[in-house]
Amino acid sequence: MYTLCTLDEIEEGDSKGFSSPLGPIFAVKKKQKLYLYANNCPHMGITLEWEADRFLDSSKQLIQCATHGAQFLIENGSCIYGPCKGQKLRPIPYELDANNNVCLLVNATA
Ligand code: FES
Repeated sequence: MYTLCTLDEIEEGDSKGFSSPLGPIFAVKKKQKLYLYANNCPHMGITLEWEADRFLDSSKQLIQCATHGAQFLIENGSCIYGPCKGQKLRPIPYELDANNNVCLLVNATA
């Protein structure tokens, strides 16, 4: 297990990027539910954000890649618009512990 942050560190309706043992990842909190994905656009394999912690479009309803504008559903990472339409962001499994810490499911040596 790797403790990434606490649930409260990610604001409702917003996104945040992290370095992790699994590489760069990002989190989006929507309707009090947390979604974690690898920060890796399926189009060209590069990071998505246009500025630190900015992974969403202007309406904050979709994840957006800054490079060519691909847009992804927050809930499942599916690309619904752009050059990688039909592909998906890679979800990152996690658990919340009793203290609302967001814990990645990686072993200690990962
Ligand atoms: S690298 Fe993300 S849309 Fe092209």
